[in-house]
Amino acid sequence: MSDKTRSIHGEWSSRFAFILAATGSAVGLGNIWKFPYITGQNGGGAFVMVYLACVAAIGIPIMIAEIMLGRRGRQSPINTMQSLSAEAGADPRWHYLGWLGMIAGFLILAYYSVIAGWAMAYIFKAFFGGFFGTDAGEVKAIFDGLMASPIQQLFWHTLFMIVTMQVVMRGVQGGLEKAVRFLMPALFVILMILVAYAMSSGAYEQGIEFLFSPDFSKIDADAVLTAMGHAFFTLSLGMGAIMVYGSYLPGHVSIAKTTFFIAGADTIVALLAGIAIFPLVFANNLEAAAGPGLIFQTLPLAFGHMGGGWLFGVLFFVLLFFAALTSSISLIEPAVAWLVENKEIERHRACVWAGSACWALGVAVVFSFNIWSGHKWFDKNLFELLDYLTANLMLPIGGLCIALFAGWTMRQTDTEQELELPEQGFQVWQFLIKYVAPVSVFLVFLHVLGVL
Ligand code: PHE
Repeated sequence: MSDKTRSIHGEWSSRFAFILAATGSAVGLGNIWKFPYITGQNGGGAFVMVYLACVAAIGIPIMIAEIMLGRRGRQSPINTMQSLSAEAGADPRWHYLGWLGMIAGFLILAYYSVIAGWAMAYIFKAFFGGFFGTDAGEVKAIFDGLMASPIQQLFWHTLFMIVTMQVVMRGVQGGLEKAVRFLMPALFVILMILVAYAMSSGAYEQGIEFLFSPDFSKIDADAVLTAMGHAFFTLSLGMGAIMVYGSYLPGHVSIAKTTFFIAGADTIVALLAGIAIFPLVFANNLEAAAGPGLIFQTLPLAFGHMGGGWLFGVLFFVLLFFAALTSSISLIEPAVAWLVENKEIERHRACVWAGSACWALGVAVVFSFNIWSGHKWFDKNLFELLDYLTANLMLPIGGLCIALFAGWTMRQTDTEQELELPEQGFQVWQFLIKYVAPVSVFLVFLHVLGVL
């Protein structure tokens, strides 16, 4: 209910616009590229169950909290945390949470842009008929060729970064709102078409069984951490993206209802992607644990053989590109908003600075797939390291802090006033945010450290 203040960066034109933008942030490569491949690497069903449980018990309450903090603070996450901690009479060091998030967004975008670049490259491969009639070996060779070429990947990474910064420059209403309106429904339709194809591909039951029948002996502490980290990643939580979007949200909008919608749409897209991909994996005797190349090595097979495959192939990768774009915008927005607020520079200049720095780190990520693939830290190349550091550590830590701040530091009268929930709903949320979410994150960390 804080319409007394408004963000200096603009405001969404309606609740619907916010839902679209936040859903655009949440639905991205995380759902279609990452979810299937980490599910494949972690043995399927049990991993999926843990991930779904984390979305429900940790993700949803934290998303409500993060949107609420943003709307109440009305600034970039760093400054929002500063003013909200002052309002609550708490330690000003809470604003480091904003820094943690801004850095996490920056590190994520560096590799996110490279992967989005792969999607762009595949638009053209599909367009020029590259997948027509191919078998699994040929499709793999196409992907390996892209991996081995720093030049191609650099080209697409650079292009993706330029497009992202162009949209971010236009600000909240100009660029973003319009883009998401058509994209989400279109993405949904094309996923349904792929699911229908997967149903007829022969190994549908095997795929479904892999995804949904849990065998808990297949997962260990690290897999649980990956599932939890992915719940944060896929919902864009723990780094200020949803917070900064919340700061452009008009007052009098039900944060809880909005959150259910976003989390629901996000989960459905991920599950559909899984249902489309795993039957193909098994029907073609592919490796479920193939890693980051999984969708690029399976879906082209479908496009190469199904009726209308050319059209659907092009459309799919175009939509994947847009899904990545609407997420990448939110990854850099906290940094841009902060530069505008604190360094008093114009929005377009803030974009150039933040975008260039991110691009430069992305160049190193490109090399980690080829000429620097031998360079490893803790047995991980740069891409794997950044992914682990951000999704498995920084986002959960950020989310943990958000939960603690919203649950324990903010005044209850303020949270009640912002959320406007019926009494029982508020109590459930409060229980989850005070106890369930922080304790779960903490326990998973202890487990991974071997303390438990
Ligand atoms: N949620 C996005 C995806 O699933 C990625 C993302 C993470 C975006 C964190 C913003 C913040 O692809």
